[in-house]
Amino acid sequence: MHVKVDDDRCQGHGLCRISAPDLFFAREEDGNAYVKDEHVPDGREDDAQMAADSCPELAIEVD
Ligand code: F3S
Repeated sequence: MHVKVDDDRCQGHGLCRISAPDLFFAREEDGNAYVKDEHVPDGREDDAQMAADSCPELAIEVD
């Protein structure tokens, strides 16, 4: 599974970091989320999906 944050959509709500604080990080300058690695580790797919589902801006894409 891969995960991406659409920076144009992200508004820094931070709910993704509640679901998966080790997968999503807040950019210092604006609080927008980013991932350090688009590859979701084995066993963390549910957390990545939960983060995507929690985003009110639909900014997280998983495939
Ligand atoms: Fe951004 Fe959505 Fe997370 S708005 S900070 S990707 S919950």
